[in-house]
Amino acid sequence: MANVIVIGAQWGDEGKGKITDLLSRSADVVVRPQGGVNAGHTIVVQGQTFKLHLIPSGILYPDTECIIGSGTVIDPKVLLEELAQLHALKVSTQNLFISQTAHVTMPYHRLLDKASEERRGKQKIGTTGRGIGPTYADKSERTGIRIVDLMNPDELKEKLEWTIKYKNVILEKLYNLAPLDPQSVIDEYLDYAEQLRPYVVDSSLKIYEAIIERKNILFEGAQGTLLDLDHGTYPYVTSSNPIAGGACVGAGVGPTVIDRVIGVAKAYTTRVGEGPFPTELHGEIGALLGSRGAEFGTTTGRPRRCGWFDGVIGRYAVRINGLDCLAITKLDVLDELAEIKVCVAYELDGQICNHFPSNASQFARCNPIYETLPGWQQSTENCRTLEDLPKEALNYLKFLAELMAVSIAIVSLGASRDQTIIVEDPIHGPKRALLDVNGDPLSVTTDE
Ligand code: GDP
Ligand code: IMO
Ligand code: MG
Repeated sequence: MANVIVIGAQWGDEGKGKITDLLSRSADVVVRPQGGVNAGHTIVVQGQTFKLHLIPSGILYPDTECIIGSGTVIDPKVLLEELAQLHALKVSTQNLFISQTAHVTMPYHRLLDKASEERRGKQKIGTTGRGIGPTYADKSERTGIRIVDLMNPDELKEKLEWTIKYKNVILEKLYNLAPLDPQSVIDEYLDYAEQLRPYVVDSSLKIYEAIIERKNILFEGAQGTLLDLDHGTYPYVTSSNPIAGGACVGAGVGPTVIDRVIGVAKAYTTRVGEGPFPTELHGEIGALLGSRGAEFGTTTGRPRRCGWFDGVIGRYAVRINGLDCLAITKLDVLDELAEIKVCVAYELDGQICNHFPSNASQFARCNPIYETLPGWQQSTENCRTLEDLPKEALNYLKFLAELMAVSIAIVSLGASRDQTIIVEDPIHGPKRALLDVNGDPLSVTTDE
């Protein structure tokens, strides 16, 4: 048995959905610990595409229990749409459970998110506009509405009457927006409450029972390491903790129950929204990565900014999350390139900087120092073993593994489940696959 955390090692959209879906075949329970409908996880199974925002990517396995954990923020309208989408595709959701202590995104959260972004002008964060920041802010301020409140109509009415009155002052006086009608919001949310009621549980207890029964639990992170509220590129971050430690908090489990932490990283880098991005490519190659990688946000449809792989950020993700191994996705997107660059360090104010600077203004001044590797200029999408890969592609992977001193357990070469190389079972196999602990000869060699 093994309990595994899967997290994004970059700025989100690394392919966590695909990897979680893949690993869910050996999971009994999949838990989504944090985030809200800002997340968009895409799964492609037998040509059918599923886009999930809140429901864990294990939902496509009929016997797998899926839990939306306590650290999430739930927009009931979007969740119900997601449920309807799954039902229309004949996917059962009878094994879905929702934490009663998760917080609820309300209409005023969405309005305030958009209004504050507009007011920020050039300082905007580039949020998804889904009300995530304001929902988490209310949670911290202790004025949030939780799922358990939705389940108690009288308490909900009382809380919402007070809260909407207070939020209306901000909407009207600060942002010149029309006030919300408390009664229509209450009616709308009471209706959502009845639809969600059958799914609501004490999630931490349910997860604990699974732990006691020695079930395999997979924790599916949303967003990515560099979007972490505490350890990411603040203020250009989300309002939760997508790092591995955040999974324990959000799910309500102790760190001792975690056996493995798997990071997911693209073979290059993308970012949606504002904020510094040292390896960003503005020219032809950036556009090529964007079009070959179909780099448009799953949630907002915004084009993702694209750039070379950043090894400094990779090393940081290994450190902050205690990664046991990586899944490298979208290697196929690099197939056409004659040369591929990898950022191995930064130049910062004339000095070489090997570590991610936690000082935001220093990070904004970092320039990438690159090493250039030969490309392979042939298709990898049908490769199913490391031996099938062109030697340049294998060398690229080894270079990344050595640069970050972490093993690569999975290589993804397309959106479908089968377009994957499992180098080493990331859950039950040895902790080091491509690179051993001592940095000794790698287990797979090129033909040179
Ligand atoms: P997530 O938020 O981390 O789950 O990632 P997204 O689903 O937002 O974005 C990843 C996108 O890349 C999705 O459209 C996936 O279907 C797609 N994808 C995942 N792995 C691969 C891969 O190895 N190759 C290609 N070409 N696409 C992939
Ligand atoms: P998944 O789970 C990529 C980004 C937004 C913005 C910043 C803050 O699909 O990887 P927010 O709406 O959270 O207040 O926006 O965070 N962001 C994501 N970027 N993937 C995500 O989720 C993201 N969730 C939030 O673009 O820059
Ligand atoms: Mg995404």
